[in-house]
Amino acid sequence: MKILVLGGGGREHALIWKLSQSKNVKALYCVPGNGGISEMADCIEMDINDIRGLIDFSKKEHIELVVVGPEGPLASGVVDAFEKEGIPIFGPPKKGAQIETSKIFAKELMDRHKVPTASFKTFFKYNDAQTYLKSIQTPYVIKADGLCAGKGAYVIFDKQEGEDVLRALMVELIYGNAGKNVIVEHFLPGVEASYIAFTDGISILPLLASQDHKPLLDDDRGPNTGGMGAYTPIPFINSAMERDINDSIMNRTIHALSNEGIDYKGALYGGLMLRNNEPYVLEFNARLGDPETQPILFKMESDILPILLACVEGKLDSIKKIEWKSGVSVCVVVASRGYPDKPEKGKIIKGLEKLKNEKDIIVFHAGTKKVGNDYYTSGGRVLGVTATGETFKDAINKVYEAVSCIEFDGMHYRKDIGRKALNTGNRG
Ligand SMILES: Nc1ncnc2c1ncn2[C@@H]1O[C@H](COP(=O)(O)OP(=O)(O)O)[C@@H](O)[C@H]1O
Ligand SMILES: [Mg+2]
Repeated sequence: MKILVLGGGGREHALIWKLSQSKNVKALYCVPGNGGISEMADCIEMDINDIRGLIDFSKKEHIELVVVGPEGPLASGVVDAFEKEGIPIFGPPKKGAQIETSKIFAKELMDRHKVPTASFKTFFKYNDAQTYLKSIQTPYVIKADGLCAGKGAYVIFDKQEGEDVLRALMVELIYGNAGKNVIVEHFLPGVEASYIAFTDGISILPLLASQDHKPLLDDDRGPNTGGMGAYTPIPFINSAMERDINDSIMNRTIHALSNEGIDYKGALYGGLMLRNNEPYVLEFNARLGDPETQPILFKMESDILPILLACVEGKLDSIKKIEWKSGVSVCVVVASRGYPDKPEKGKIIKGLEKLKNEKDIIVFHAGTKKVGNDYYTSGGRVLGVTATGETFKDAINKVYEAVSCIEFDGMHYRKDIGRKALNTGNRG
């Protein structure tokens, strides 16, 4: 099979690495890819949102499956366009991607179908929202409706701050139309988890639960980022809790979409808050998470290709379960100085060759470029280093030992990835 993957981050490198092990894969292409991906796939320099160009390329190369990584092309309708051309593509149609691209759409869908989530109000007029904020107590959460690259949700502890955020979003339009309409929702205390499932629009096939680390600095300080590390599985999520998440959230949401006429195929990502052993949805994403996909796929034993194809073909019930390697998996993201605001670029990366043949370690690339035999940084998140181990203690030691082999000017990473699993876990 000839497969095209869209995207150029650690998630896409992990997907391509996993696909490259599938015996039915004959050729892999990636738009735009990165330095690491270029060793496993043909990287094509093209705009990921140039749908016409992508279709022309896919026809010319006889691509038999397209796998969409990030949300951008989903929001632009890449899936709808490829389906029209009869080219199989993994990902939800534009209408389904609204579950990520519009938080109001997602919340109202959950409300109609009784999917557990924080209670909320939607606002389309600044004055109405302003009056409402005056009437409620902190803490509460203000969320921009549209895509804001992970910067549109604000947990508010101080009334003045809430008013300032509201004005910035709805009046100053700091995120343009994405923040013109907002949600104000109840603050939910608890522990966060990422829960991703494959789906063909009818049934779901869940991946292992994982935990992301959004803030830039140790102990969850500093600004939010795309994610500074992740681990899987989550020790305190047992099979009863998994069943609950599958029933009350994942399956219910897929059925809700289907009842409303949306054929949602691809990955559904639930950003959850676990509170007193009960799961609530903070948000949905219409794709696999990054970095979560990196440790999850490194631990996956099953061939991924039949699963992706079953999602696209509406035959996911033919796959009973995913097999996993034993133990746990921890991923540390290595970023550039200045990330997330203004990451430095163009620094030479040293030490990667030392990690090439380690059985329990893999380095997925994100913002890298290969020039000759050398790798250079080309973005904010540069690498994701993942290690597996029998226990969290073991995996954490291995991953940080691996990170210490890597060197570039201004490299930054969190030193506490996985610590929460150690503290709460019985596996560590
Ligand atoms: N209702 C809530 N209660 C407590 N914390 C929340 C709530 N909603 C969001 N958060 C916090 O804000 C972060 C970002 O919110 P989220 O809905 O995931 O939006 P986005 O990822 O688009 O920024 C969450 O990861 C969580 O830490
Ligand atoms: Mg989120």
